[in-house]
Amino acid sequence: MESLLSPLTGSITKLTSFTLLFLFLFSCSTFTPTEAYDAVDPNGNITIKWDLMSWTPDGYVAVVTMFNFQQYRHIRAPGWTLGWTWAKKEFIWSMVGGQTTEQGDCSKYKGNVPHCCKKDPTVVDLLPGTPYNQQIANCCRGGVLKPWDASSFQLSVGAAGTTNKTVQMPKHFTLNAPGNAYTCGPPQIVQPTKFITQDKKRVTRALSK
Ligand SMILES: *[C@@H]1O[C@H](CO)[C@@H](O)[C@H](O)[C@H]1NC(C)=O
Ligand SMILES: *[C@@H]1O[C@H](CO)[C@@H](O)[C@H](O)[C@H]1NC(C)=O
Repeated sequence: MESLLSPLTGSITKLTSFTLLFLFLFSCSTFTPTEAYDAVDPNGNITIKWDLMSWTPDGYVAVVTMFNFQQYRHIRAPGWTLGWTWAKKEFIWSMVGGQTTEQGDCSKYKGNVPHCCKKDPTVVDLLPGTPYNQQIANCCRGGVLKPWDASSFQLSVGAAGTTNKTVQMPKHFTLNAPGNAYTCGPPQIVQPTKFITQDKKRVTRALSK
């Protein structure tokens, strides 16, 4: 799988097949007492899945997928923003289907410049019309996310652990959408065996068990 990533050029190609190494999962929900949604859809949430797809010489490639399990709330333009804080000294070599809003200070990297060196990156979706070689499934809708739909991006993380014992989950996830801020629970490691396919229906069924 390492051939799929080339950290030396700082670029990744999209993964078409993979074996999941492990994943973690957490949910974010919004609470706005003036809105009726919460009474009608009390379990409405956005569940985020961070799948480790492959190890790389200095980290891993992950696909991050957000599922909108809210019956009535559409995330509209200008779309979602997802932020987190790295647990260690991680940085993002490259991304497909999404981008960070700021690169941060990558001055210590000579030659191959990472996509983002911030301790607390903020990711947004790419726009429709993004070239195919920069897309993955469920990306590139300008952050728009309908009820029961999914939105994904892929990232290559450097200076992360390279085994599932040394890798650490990012912390302090924040999710914002136009008109709503979400509060996210702590990530939990999930057995990957339930999530052997990228097919959205099967994943959704597994999540709602
Ligand atoms: C860690 O990785 C090994 C193989 O690389 C795998 O057998 C094991 O299930 C993984 N552990 C977890 C918690 O995913
Ligand atoms: C999020 O929504 C899904 C689907 O309705 C549900 O299975 C899950 O329990 C919810 N999670 C939380 C934390 O409410």
